[in-house]
Amino acid sequence: MSNTTFTWRRVAAMGAVAALSFGALTACSSERGDSGSTGDASADGGAASADPGDVLVGIAMPTKSLERWNRDGAHLEELLKDDGFSTSLQYADNKVDQQISQVENMINDGADILVVASIDGTALAPVLQTAADAGITVIAYDRLINGTDNVDYYATFDNYGVGQMQGEFIVDQLDLENTTETYNLEPFAGSPDDNNAKFFFAGAWDVLQPYVESGTLVVPSGKAPASDDDWQSIGIQGWSSDTAQSEMENRLNSFYSGGEKVDVVLSPNDSLALGIAQALAGAGYTPGDGYPILTGQDADKANVLNMLAGKQAMTVWKDTRTLGDQVATMVSEIAAGQEVTVNDTESYDNGNKVVPTYLLPPQVITPDTVNVLVDSGFYTAADLGL
Ligand code: GAL
Repeated sequence: MSNTTFTWRRVAAMGAVAALSFGALTACSSERGDSGSTGDASADGGAASADPGDVLVGIAMPTKSLERWNRDGAHLEELLKDDGFSTSLQYADNKVDQQISQVENMINDGADILVVASIDGTALAPVLQTAADAGITVIAYDRLINGTDNVDYYATFDNYGVGQMQGEFIVDQLDLENTTETYNLEPFAGSPDDNNAKFFFAGAWDVLQPYVESGTLVVPSGKAPASDDDWQSIGIQGWSSDTAQSEMENRLNSFYSGGEKVDVVLSPNDSLALGIAQALAGAGYTPGDGYPILTGQDADKANVLNMLAGKQAMTVWKDTRTLGDQVATMVSEIAAGQEVTVNDTESYDNGNKVVPTYLLPPQVITPDTVNVLVDSGFYTAADLGL
């Protein structure tokens, strides 16, 4: 869907906000309606105000230390300000307690709508009860918030699809369906407290595990989860590049010291892939023949440069600008008391409810298709040394 479409939809919603009588009070209610699939903001305590400037949107982002969240926060804040909303953008340095305090402060500052990219999706239930009591509408941003009725909407990319793309890329590159060879695989998973990481791993493992069971893929480290549910056993806390590098170094030193080579590494995102590539370089792997297939996600600049240098085979690009556009549209619809646009009312059960969701499509980028990132304006050619 083009940005123009997003713009016009937001303009329509903003028009509705402006058209509301100035006597329109916040259409909040302490009784949280079932926002369900109707996505009817007026039913779930959404803020409806005569003037966007009267609507304060709290934006809680996890950290600045991972590249993508800086883009996410800046873009969404810009869109909301352009639409006339007041905003409070906070980053929590990947500290759960800090994020909870920031959300509490946003509530105390009178936020009408909260957009939260959670650090730990299981830790926010208490503070979101406070938000619900204040009639605040909550949008989970990119990462689902679990264990609470008090999350009204979710906007993200197809997280299971991200993993599937990584798994299918490996199958295609090694021709696993037809090969008579065996290949050494080292799988990684994301942060154990990130609900997305469960979906990323499941999408990839559902593709790859049959080849592990048939013996076509061998995991010399033994770190092959028995099932999707066992993904946290290979999780990397906080998505840390350094932790991923140390883990890969340990595996290389412990299980590849006799001359065996790694053929493929399943990395769920680029921050892990960056550390893994460092470990591979330290063990003497050089780009070219014999260098492992290394996957990633987010099209972080350092990783795209690594792809162009032959140190990473692919990344799954999620154009976070479109996620920001979609959330800005949802905010405008909530503020206008309009029905909130969603396209998935079945997939994301947070343990308390199925959260109405807008899913966006991810896209595989390889060294041969890096131009897509430049043509879309996500990077300039100069950014990538092209
Ligand atoms: C996930 C996000 C990914 C990944 C990771 C680290 O929740 O969906 O894009 O980069 O966090 O931020």
